[in-house]
Amino acid sequence: MTKSNPRMLGEHMTRELTASGGRRLTYLRMSVTDLCNLRCGYCMPPEGVPKLRHHDILTFEEMARLAAVAAGLGMTKLRLTGGEPLVRRGLSGFIRRLGEEGFTDLRLTTNGLLLAPMAAELKAAGLRGLNISLDALEPAIYAQLCGLPGPEGLRAARQAWEGFQAALACGFDVKINCVPIRGVNDGQLLPLARLALEYPIDVRFIEHMPIGDGRLWNADRFMSAAEVYTMLADGLGTLTPAKVVDPSAPARLYRPAGAPGAVGFISPLSGHFCGDCNRLRLTADGKMKPCLLTGQELDLRAPLRAGADDQTLAALFSQAACLKPLSHLAADDHGGRQMNRIGG
Ligand code: 5AD
Ligand code: SF4
Repeated sequence: MTKSNPRMLGEHMTRELTASGGRRLTYLRMSVTDLCNLRCGYCMPPEGVPKLRHHDILTFEEMARLAAVAAGLGMTKLRLTGGEPLVRRGLSGFIRRLGEEGFTDLRLTTNGLLLAPMAAELKAAGLRGLNISLDALEPAIYAQLCGLPGPEGLRAARQAWEGFQAALACGFDVKINCVPIRGVNDGQLLPLARLALEYPIDVRFIEHMPIGDGRLWNADRFMSAAEVYTMLADGLGTLTPAKVVDPSAPARLYRPAGAPGAVGFISPLSGHFCGDCNRLRLTADGKMKPCLLTGQELDLRAPLRAGADDQTLAALFSQAACLKPLSHLAADDHGGRQMNRIGG
């Protein structure tokens, strides 16, 4: 397989991706598998969802080829997602390869269950950041939300915590993701936020989106970012807005007095940050999604497998960039894909 080279993209092609509003797209999210070892209620029904066929999933070689084309177009940041990315074997080697292709900022989103034994290897491969999903500290509540009943759920809670500790010990840039759901984990939000008083991490609260096949969503259970903010400000004292380092980052961050970390709020429903969004998403079966909440997809797998050259693939990236909206309606069709097939 020929390695992609930015010079091969041709003089007439732009070397960067630009979307409406003059946004430069520099951030690629790549789902490496639709499989997951959890069944979080906001993502999946308890029985899970039908698996993609093995042949439909891109190989690491195919993913690396697309990543190289993206790097040639000026993309520098790449996040691996799932499903649960750590269930896919050979991930560290793939991460090393992505670094060689030119990605300087490599990150991964995980539920953390398999992380503890892998953390050092992932760090050595060049991974810089880990977003770890942790919706409760109390094991019984974690178990309830993660969809594994009984002792399995309690074990999952312990593994996720150990994964978090291993990530800190290995020196990763760590962020915690929590989806607040009234009547389920609302009593856990303050204890989770207090992690920012102890560790140099961002603890981020993401508004529950009515997306995918998670059947937990309803208007009564929905907690807005504003509501969670008030709850945390009551418990933590004054929250000072943190300096905006990256305007495309979806979380608004606040620092409790004297804390090494920060708390953050991501409000896809009550807030609108589309105009600053600089990312494209690639699903594990090779579809490019210009936006999480619109149904549009561009197939890259068929041209890739039919032997498309780098220029053709780069043109498909540009086409996806042009399809990025400047705003969304939350009720838009999202293509009927479950979250585990989009990658969060
Ligand atoms: N609403 C909000 N966030 C979600 N995630 C998954 N499903 C949803 C949803 N319905 C996010 C969670 C999880 C990450 C993988 O994706 O934060 O940690
Ligand atoms: Fe798995 Fe992540 Fe979905 Fe939870 S949210 S079921 S960890 S893919």
